[in-house]
Amino acid sequence: MSDELEALRAQAQERTATASTLGELETVRTEFLGRKGGRLSRAMAGLAKLPAAERAAFGKRANEAKSAIETALAQAQARLEGAALDRDLARSFDVTLSSILPSRGSLHILRRTLDDVVRFFRSRGFAIVVGPEVETEFYAFEAMNIPAHHPARENLDTFYLPPGTLLRPHTSPVQMRAMQAYPPPIAILVPGRAYRRDALDASHSFVFHQIEGLHVDRGVNFGHLKGFASGLCRHLMGQNRRTRFRPSYFPFTEPSAEIDLSCAMCDGAGCRVCKGTGWLEMGGCGMVHPNVLRLAPYDPEEFTGWAWGLGLERIAMLRHGIDDIRLFTENDPKFLEQFA
Ligand code: DAH
Repeated sequence: MSDELEALRAQAQERTATASTLGELETVRTEFLGRKGGRLSRAMAGLAKLPAAERAAFGKRANEAKSAIETALAQAQARLEGAALDRDLARSFDVTLSSILPSRGSLHILRRTLDDVVRFFRSRGFAIVVGPEVETEFYAFEAMNIPAHHPARENLDTFYLPPGTLLRPHTSPVQMRAMQAYPPPIAILVPGRAYRRDALDASHSFVFHQIEGLHVDRGVNFGHLKGFASGLCRHLMGQNRRTRFRPSYFPFTEPSAEIDLSCAMCDGAGCRVCKGTGWLEMGGCGMVHPNVLRLAPYDPEEFTGWAWGLGLERIAMLRHGIDDIRLFTENDPKFLEQFA
């Protein structure tokens, strides 16, 4: 009788070891352990016919056989399920590839550069002011002392919208909007987009950012302008950089100048980046034209002021050695991540 149990156990173990599918394993389970008609149940039916003295020992051995078969079934099930999972994984993806870390966002390099400029001027008492990108012809030109047919309008190749409005070609009109809104004295910084009908290339874009500065008070003079401009340049570009002011012309300033910064690549010796001049242009500036002050209306006899318009992209390019303005808007992570 116990030989029969022994044979059952051995057969079940062999069958589970060679089963190649979970379905096959279920068949083995039913055949050996099924409640009705399972082979172990049938073997147990002989229990009643045994002499009373042998029943306990037989029952114990039957239970041992049962748990041995259950263990064999569980092991085979684990083996088959593991193999099925491996097959699925191999089919859907390559588990040997390195893992992909979720990438972390960061502030755009233009935003960081602007934040740095803003920090410098906030700590010196300047207010941050913004104005509309869709501007009127009046504020973009007339208010800035650029009358109709003035040749300066051509330098600011403008996108015109329905009659009387346009996409502002510079942030300068916000000077007038702010002066009309607040009595003097005024010290403001105006960051914002400007638009021009320029063909896109490494140094031109039809949309870019300017940072307009304006400081009007009693007794403000060109020395203050030079002080703020060279202070900002040193703050942004390093203490060893020199600035120079080159005479220029803007209708809304008199006198007007161009702010140049000594080239970081060659330290003024002349190279490819500065086209051999040793200097790089940062933007335009000057003393606010009396006509502009009068329209505000600020009394030009009592108040004087300086103004400038700097290119934000230009500052970021000079600061980080970026040689193509298009990189700022292409959103290539390989470019952006360098500044994260
Ligand atoms: N608006 C000028 C431009 O876009 C830049 C500029 C020059 C702004 C001189 C100023 C200034 O405020 O005083 O070309």
